[in-house]
Parts: sequence; structure tokens; C-alpha cells
Amino acid sequence: MAFSQQFLDELTARSDIVDVVSTYVQLTRKGSNYFGLCPFHSEKTGSFSVSPDKQIYYCFGCKKGGGVINFIMEEENLSFRDAVAFLAKRANLELPEEEDGDKEAGRRRQRLLDLNRSAAQFYYETLHSPQGAAVAEYLQRRKISRRTATNFGLGASVDSWDSLLTAMLQKGFTKAELLAAGLVVQNRQGRLYDKFRNRLMFPVIDVRGDVVAFGGRVLDKSEPKYMNTSETMVYSKRRVLYGMNLAKKTKRSNIILCEGNIDVITLHQAGFDNAVASMGTALTTEQIRLLSRYTKELVLCYDNDDAGKAATQKAIDLLNNSEFSVKVLQLPRRLVDGQYVKQDVDDFIKFQGREAFEALLTGSENHIEFRMDAVAAKYDLTDDRQRVAYAEEISSVIASLSSAVEREVYAGRAAERAGLSKEAMELEVKRAFKKRAGQERRQQERASLNPAAQLQPKDRSSRYTDVRSAMAEEGVLRLLTRDDSLFALCPQLQPEEFSSSLLGKIYSILLRCHQEGSQPSPALLSQELEREEMDHFTGLLQKPESMANSRQALADYIRIIQDSCRARSGAQECDPLLAAQEKYKAKKGYGGKQQ
Ligand code: UTP
Ligand code: MN
Repeated sequence: MAFSQQFLDELTARSDIVDVVSTYVQLTRKGSNYFGLCPFHSEKTGSFSVSPDKQIYYCFGCKKGGGVINFIMEEENLSFRDAVAFLAKRANLELPEEEDGDKEAGRRRQRLLDLNRSAAQFYYETLHSPQGAAVAEYLQRRKISRRTATNFGLGASVDSWDSLLTAMLQKGFTKAELLAAGLVVQNRQGRLYDKFRNRLMFPVIDVRGDVVAFGGRVLDKSEPKYMNTSETMVYSKRRVLYGMNLAKKTKRSNIILCEGNIDVITLHQAGFDNAVASMGTALTTEQIRLLSRYTKELVLCYDNDDAGKAATQKAIDLLNNSEFSVKVLQLPRRLVDGQYVKQDVDDFIKFQGREAFEALLTGSENHIEFRMDAVAAKYDLTDDRQRVAYAEEISSVIASLSSAVEREVYAGRAAERAGLSKEAMELEVKRAFKKRAGQERRQQERASLNPAAQLQPKDRSSRYTDVRSAMAEEGVLRLLTRDDSLFALCPQLQPEEFSSSLLGKIYSILLRCHQEGSQPSPALLSQELEREEMDHFTGLLQKPESMANSRQALADYIRIIQDSCRARSGAQECDPLLAAQEKYKAKKGYGGKQQ
């Protein structure tokens, strides 16, 4: 998928980064740059900067950065291509006719979406045919009405190795397409068979209404309980929430996040059309960004077992200090034959009813209460010693609140619970708050005293192995982006001599642009670099670099790079096997992420 540089230049000329960012972030001018609160992480003081001269943004807090296209990719949760289309529309610019390669990729994507839709249709028809009787019965047992089932497009896969395969081939889809969609799998002998057999089928539909994947549940107690489509050209599970296609239309103010597909379905059926599920995996930052397009209020409603509690805690951590207000809805355990058993939302609605759930929803605690309950549960508060330990631990939880009023309110509650005086508890919280502030400060100091750690790319796979050389490589990139007449001074420097494959790759792009007589714009770079690579590149451009003595500085950098390169290859020559391996890696080019 490549747009011509000419088109990208035209697009970015009509999409001034300050204008575009201003529609999302309130910016204030400070010197030659603009600053504001970062939209990609939560913060109270602005570390998000926009440079109108360079047409880039960079956040000194979360270290995300890039050009205007990267901004839209992040903010609107779009692919490069879609972000370009988004900006083109905004600028009233027509998208150029796609080149053959792009058209081909777009066509293949569309074919997979068409195939998924056909498969969903096929499973749906199966459910409503005699062959689907077992699944229909199962739905009845789970108290899922026909209407709800249709609303979610539920279907049935039959107990056969090739019923979907045959039907889809008949419709003109190819075996390769069926494999690419993850609907069929291949055994060792090369035979294809249906991935989903004898299961209740849940199509996973994204917010645009495309069927991007499937989940399938067994009808009995066999394992695995659920099977899901793995990652495909049209499905990245980090970016999708089950039920979001429906929940995005809710009139309720918040969105309920639960664990399971059936939980979502039961909730919708009971009138809670604001439920979505992360399908049994931990909540991701991509899903949070998706949610933020529709609501700023989340209710976490995971299962009330240990795994559910851990998932809740993880989600709270991820959402901590974010723009979301987060509540935790804790489902009570259920008494069965004198024993308390765990239950999920589905069970709760079934046994206690929708009104009971509505009551829980209105009364659901904010996340601090959830965490305080978790601490209290660990101690026997009738025992003096344990009460002391409780006071200490709970005060550190309360100290994490940034509002003094909130700290006071919760200190009061914690004191009451353990039969301690409010004053003593408040004192304890104050101490914990001070300690925490000190810890944070020291942590920051340590980080700034340890530049080596800060210098590293965030993406582990592109970590610098030779920091000295990498610093010189960064310097070369900074000088060349600021003054491309300096290229004349480095004809002998080869991308292969870079110790970092990421920096070498960027250098080779700059070099190519220079040879073609064009300017390497952020738009062009974001077309060729991965997001994390672009973040890192934007970050290194922020570091100071004096242009006063640029020719001398460049010569010094090149010397360091070439010396280090010689030293590395010298070391390897001692070990012929290693050398051969390195050579092989180098031959494979920069595609591999690791040096
Ligand atoms: P649960 O085991 O809690 O199932 O998994 P559930 O949703 O309550 O389903 P029922 O009520 O037993 O039918 C929660 C979610 O985790 C995913 C599914 O998306 C499921 O809905 N999961 C679970 C899997 O992907 N694979 C599994 O084997 C199990
Ligand atoms: Mn369940």
C-alpha cells in the first residue's frame, strides 16, 4: 500500500498538524511550539508538544510521536491507509487511484470480509434448519430467545469435517481464502477441514458492521470450551470488543465490560444494551481507545472468582488516572446447598433478575472501594496486630488518590471499618501520601540519572546492543533531517554499518529520498515505519543537536559508527560460526527486528 510522495505532500500541506490536533487537544503556544494534555495517556500537566515547523507531535510522557497521519492513526484507531483517507476527506482531496498492489490487498481484505459474512449466514441458516436442533436446544437451555439470537447473528456449526468448506467452495471462495480467514485448518497430510464443528457460533462484528471473526462454544463440558478465530488480515483481537457494534448505539451513559460472550448476550436481552466483552482476555490499550470514542464511563463487571478479581485489578491499573470514570460492579457469590459459589453476570441475571442487576449497577462502587474491600478481606480486624497491618496497607491504597477530599472521605471509612479513630487513620494516610510522593520523585530522579535506560527504544525487539554507536547513529539522523546538504559528507556511510537495524533502516530511507532529490516528510516516513519505530524516531529528533559545528560533528559520528562496526565484525571473525550467522542475518536485510 503505497501512496506517492507527491500525494502525501499535497495531503500534509492541506492538513496542518496544529489545525488537526487542535480539534482533539486544547493547545497553548509556548515559544515556537504548542503544548497540551496528551490524548494518548492521562496526565495533569501537558507534556504533549506539537511543532508547526517540523509538522510533528511528540509526547515527553508516553513517548508517542509522529506526523499528522500518525496522530490520526492513534486518535481514530485507524490503519495508515484509512488515516490517509480520513485526512483526504477532511481536506477535500480525492484519493488517488490505487496502484495494483494496493488494490490487490484491498481486494483480498474485502474477499475475507465477504467470506466471513457468507460463513455467518451459513451458520445462521444451519441453526434454523433441522441440523441445528442441538444448538437451538442449547440456546433454549441458556434462556437465549430467538430474537436475541438473531440480534447477535448466532449460528450453528454441525458435527462434520467439511460442511462449511463445501458450502463456501460452492459459493466461489477458494481454499486459500478459507485458510486465510481461519475458517478451515489444514492437517499434516495437507487435508483441509472445518475449524468450527458442533458448536454454537458467535460472529464477532466490529463497529463498522463487518464480521471479522468467530467464536464457537461447545454444547457440553468438553474442552476447549470456546474456540476463536486467531489473528487474520481482518482481525486483531486487541482492537475488537464483542458486542461493541450494538453497544455503541446505547442510550445509557456508560458501558459495561464483562468477560464472556454469553454475559454480553444475556445483558442485552435483559435490557442492558451497553454491555461488551473482551472475550476472556485482558483489556488492552487499543480497546480502551475504542471505548473512549463512545463513553467516558466504564463499569467493570468481571466474574467474581480470583481470575475475575485479578482481571479487574489489571484493568483498573490500565485505566488509572485516565479520562474514564471507572466503577466496579461486584457480583455477590451465590449460596448453593450451603456453599457459596462463583457466578458471572449470566448466572446473576438468570437467578436474581434484571432489577437486581439494575440495582447493583446504580450502586456499583468506584474502583477505590473495590481495592479497599480487597485489602480488608485479607485481615482479621478483631485482632489488634492485624488491625495495625490493615491500617498500614489500606493507607497506601488511599494515598494513591490525587484528591485530598477523597483521601479524607476514604480514610474515614477505613477507620470506621477497623474501629480506629478517624484522626489516626488520616495521619497514617498523610504519611503514606508523603512517602509515595517521595518514591515517585526518587524514581524520576533515578530515571533521569540513568540515561542509558531512557535512550533505548520502547519496543524491546529493537533495543540498542551497542549504545555508543547507536548514539552516534541517532546524531547522524538528526543532522541529516535538519540539513540534508550534509549528505554530501557521508557518501561512504552505509546503512549496514549501523549497529541498530531500526536506525539503519531510517538512514536508508533518508538516503533514498536524498538520492531521488526529495524531502523525507513525516508522512512518507510513517508510510514505511511501524508505529513504535515512528515514535522512537520522533523522540530522537527531540534531543538537542547543535548545528553550529555540524560538519565536524557528523565526521565524528561517522568515525564512531565505522569504528564500532569494525570492532563488532572483528570480534565475530574470531568465531567463524557466529560470523556466518551474522552474515546470514545481514543478508536477510532490515526486515528482521532484532540485530
Ligand atoms: P468463561 O469460561 O467465563 O465462559 O470465559 P462464559 O463466558 O461464562 O461462558 P459460559 O457461560 O460457560 O457459556 C469467558 C470468555 O473467555 C473466552 C470466551 O470469550 C468466553 O466467553 N474463552 C473462554 C475462550 O476464548 N476460550 C476458552 O476456552 C474459554
Ligand atoms: Mn457464563
